[in-house]
Amino acid sequence: MSNRFYVTTPIYYVNDAPHLGTAYTTVAADAFARQRSLRGMETRFLTGTDEHGLKIDRSARELGLEPQAFVDQISSKFRDAWPKLLCEPSDFIRTTEPRHKKVAQDLWERCRANGDIFEGEHEGWYCVSCEQFYPEKDLTEEKLCPIHKRAVEWTKETGYFFRLSRYQDKLLEHYEKHPEFVQPEGRRNEVISFVKEGLKDLSISRTTFQWGIPVPNDPKHVMYVWFDALTNYLSAVSGGPEKRFWPPTLQLVGKDIVRFHAIYWPAFLLSAGFGADELPKTVFAHGFLTINGQKMGKSLRNTVEPVRLAEYFGAGEVRYFLLREVALGQDGDFSHKKLISRIRADLAATLGNLLNRTLPFAVKHFDGAVPKPSAELDTDRERALRAKTRSLVDDAAAAWDALEPHRALECAIALAMECNGYFDARAPWSLAKDPARKDELATVIYHVLEVLRVCSVLLWAALPDKCDALRAQLGLDPLHPVIGVDKWPLEWGGLVAGSKLAPGAPLFRNITKDDEAKILQDFGVTDGETKVTDTKAADKPAKADATTPATPSKPAEAPATGGSTTIAFDDFAKVELKLGEVKSAERVPKSDKLLKLQVDLGEPSGPRQIIAGIGLSYQPEQLVGKKLVIVANLAPRKLMGHESHGMVLACGPTDGLSITTIEKDQPAGTPVK
Ligand code: ME8
Ligand code: MG
Repeated sequence: MSNRFYVTTPIYYVNDAPHLGTAYTTVAADAFARQRSLRGMETRFLTGTDEHGLKIDRSARELGLEPQAFVDQISSKFRDAWPKLLCEPSDFIRTTEPRHKKVAQDLWERCRANGDIFEGEHEGWYCVSCEQFYPEKDLTEEKLCPIHKRAVEWTKETGYFFRLSRYQDKLLEHYEKHPEFVQPEGRRNEVISFVKEGLKDLSISRTTFQWGIPVPNDPKHVMYVWFDALTNYLSAVSGGPEKRFWPPTLQLVGKDIVRFHAIYWPAFLLSAGFGADELPKTVFAHGFLTINGQKMGKSLRNTVEPVRLAEYFGAGEVRYFLLREVALGQDGDFSHKKLISRIRADLAATLGNLLNRTLPFAVKHFDGAVPKPSAELDTDRERALRAKTRSLVDDAAAAWDALEPHRALECAIALAMECNGYFDARAPWSLAKDPARKDELATVIYHVLEVLRVCSVLLWAALPDKCDALRAQLGLDPLHPVIGVDKWPLEWGGLVAGSKLAPGAPLFRNITKDDEAKILQDFGVTDGETKVTDTKAADKPAKADATTPATPSKPAEAPATGGSTTIAFDDFAKVELKLGEVKSAERVPKSDKLLKLQVDLGEPSGPRQIIAGIGLSYQPEQLVGKKLVIVANLAPRKLMGHESHGMVLACGPTDGLSITTIEKDQPAGTPVK
C-alpha cells in the first residue's frame, strides 16, 4: 500500500452556507485523514467551494450582488466554519482561483486534442438547482425536477459536447477490474446499470450566461459547471510538490452526486490521457442525514447549524455523534435527543466515567503517578482484558480501512465498557482497604489507565480535542502524527510506571434530564419536532440592498439587549417608512424568490417599482390591494436586471415569510413612525 493518502470532499456550492450535511462529509474526510496520519501515512485533505454556474449567478443577482463579491463572502464562511469543527484541511480550493482555471482549461484542451470535444446542438429540460439536464421520463408528473421538485427550464444550447458515449466500455471494464472504485456496493451496482443503459454525449459549455471558466479559444462559451468543478481535485495538486498526491485515494461524496464522480469524472480523466491506474482509487457515496426525522429543508437548518452545535455540545462530541450514529453509506437521522444520549451513554457514562473513577485511586495510593503492575499478580482477568484490547485495536483499524468509522468508534467504546466491567470485577475499593494487596491494586489501576491510553488513540480521529484532554490527565503529550511512524496502539504497555498523572475536570459534561429539557428548549425542539425559527436568510451575506427582509440574528449570537448595538434616535429618524398599497405584482422571470411590485406611496409621480424577495412565501395575486410597510428612502438598486425603489418589510423564514401590514386602515403614503 502506498504511504500516501489523499482524501477529498465535494466542493460545496456557495449558494448556501455550511450546514449539517456539508459538515457531515467534511468531518468524515477530516477523521479519515487524521486516522491515516496516526498510522504514519503522508496525508492530504482537500475541501473547497464550487463557485461558478447559473445557480450561483442567479443567487448573487437575487441579492443585487456581483457574483464575485457574493462568492467571496460565502466561500469564506466555509473556510471559517471547518476549523470550528476541528477539521483541518491541507488546502482549500476555490474554482474562481487562477490556479484552478488554468488546470480546467488545460484538461479541456487535452480532451479536445483527443477528439472527444465537438460542437453540436442540444435542447432539453434543465434543472438549475442540479445544474443538469433531465430526460422527460425522469421528471415528475407536473414536469418538476425529481430531486428539487422545482420547475425545470426548456433550454437550448449550441455549444460543445463531450463524447461520453465513447467511454462506456472503458468505464464498465474499470468498474469490473476495480470493485473498490465505487462504494458501497449498492451504489456501485446503480452506477454500473446506469452506464449499461447507454451513455449519451454530454453538453459541456454554455453561452446563456458568463459566470464560468471561458472555453479555451472560444470565450463566448463558458464551461459547464460540472466539468469545471470536478477538475478541482486535480488542480489542487497540480502545482509543484503536491503532484505526488495524485491520484486521490478516497473521494467522499453524498449519494446525490455519485454519478458525476463515478462516471463523468473518470471519463474526463481517461480522455485527457490518464491511465486506468492514475484514476481516483475510491469514490465513496455516503447517505443523507435528516433532522429530527424531517428532510433537511432550508428552514430547519438553522437549529442544527453545525458551528452552533459544536459551540454548545463540544466539537469533538458533535464529530463523534456524526461518525458513530450512522453507518457511512446509510441514510440517518440527526436529532438533539440522539446527540444527547450518545454523549451521555458512550462518552460521559462509559469513557469519562472510567477515567473519573480510576484517577482518585492513583492520587490516593500511588502519589498521583502511574502505578507499577506486577506480572506475578496477573490473573485471568488481566489476561482477558489485554487480549480484548488487542483484538479491539485490530478490529478498529480494520474498520477504518473498510471505511466504517462507526464500527471503529464502536470498538473503542466497547473497550472502555469492557474495562468498566473489569474495574467492577476487580473492585479496587476493596483492594485498597488491605495494605497487603497494594501491588494487586497497582496492577488493576495500571490496566485501567493503559486502556484509557489506548482509547485516547483509537478515538482521536473523531474527538481530537477530548482525546488530547484525556491524555493530558494521563500525563501524556497530545498526539502528533509523524510520517512513517505508526502510532496505532498495537503494543500493550505504553504507559510508563512512575510517570505523573494530572487529574482534571471531567472530560464530558453530565447532561441531566433537567439540562436536556432546557437544551431542547434552547434549540426549539418540541416532541421530536424542530420548531422553524430561522432560515437561510441568516446564512446569506450582508445584503447590498434591502428589498429582501432584514436578517434575523442567530439565537446563539444574539447581542445582549441594551448592549453596544443600539443606534441613536437620529439614525433611526433617517429611515423613511411609509404605507404603500400594492397595485400590481408579478414574478421576476427565472427567480423563485423575487416579485416585481408596483406600489402606490401616495406620490404624484405614480406607483414605484419595488423588487421584493418574498416569492417563496406569497403568490403575486395575494399581494394586490394589500397595504404594506415600505422603506421609502433607500437608494435604488438593480436586482436581476430590475430596478427596485424601496423595500418591503417582512419577517420569518424565507419560505414562510409574513409581510408587515397595519391593523387599522390608513391611506397609502401615510408615514410610519
Ligand atoms: O453538489 N446529508 O455541492 P452541494 C448528508 N458543488 N450530506 C449532505 C446533505 C445531507 N442532508 N446535504 C448535502 C455540489 N450534503 C457540487 C459538488 S464536487 C466536484 C461539486 C453534502 O453544495 C454531501 O456531501 O450541493 C453532498 O454530496 C454535498 O453536500 C453537496 O453539496
Ligand atoms: Mg446540492
